[in-house]
Amino acid sequence: MKLSINGRTVSAEPAGSTTLLDLLRDDLALVGTKRVCDRGECGACTVLRDGVPIYACLTLAHACAGHEIRTIESLGNTDAPHVLQESFAAEDAAQCGFCTPGQLMAAVALLEHNADPSDTEIVAAMSGNLCRCGTYPKIVRAVRRAASLARAGTAEPTRG
Ligand code: FES
Ligand code: FES
Repeated sequence: MKLSINGRTVSAEPAGSTTLLDLLRDDLALVGTKRVCDRGECGACTVLRDGVPIYACLTLAHACAGHEIRTIESLGNTDAPHVLQESFAAEDAAQCGFCTPGQLMAAVALLEHNADPSDTEIVAAMSGNLCRCGTYPKIVRAVRRAASLARAGTAEPTRG
């Protein structure tokens, strides 16, 4: 099968039972996507398939053939962070950070479809992503800040 991962065409021959999370972490060494509950409850493994957030732990790799997958590795880095990464840091929205890659990918999808979300819309869009450290208010502030920066033209929310 072939699929696109972070803009690169990847060929793979996963077993029928291999999940997208297995493929990303174990076969492709894309370990930014986290395995926490491994049963569709926490959202730590959230990636985008054709722009839509999905749980990689619940998605068979074969269900991604021909699709475009984006992971946390498609965003920025320390030297050139994505506006959402910069905003999470500015608002101190990560404690242990384990949920953060999934939170960021859910937020990327939100801002790509809604450049000016209300707090209610942010909470709804992020509702599939749990944070055991309880940083929810800071996460909402970070997403609101990133959206505001992007609308002001000082950052590009969809850059990846
Ligand atoms: S690791 Fe996939 S939802 Fe928790
Ligand atoms: S920052 Fe620790 S689980 Fe979210």
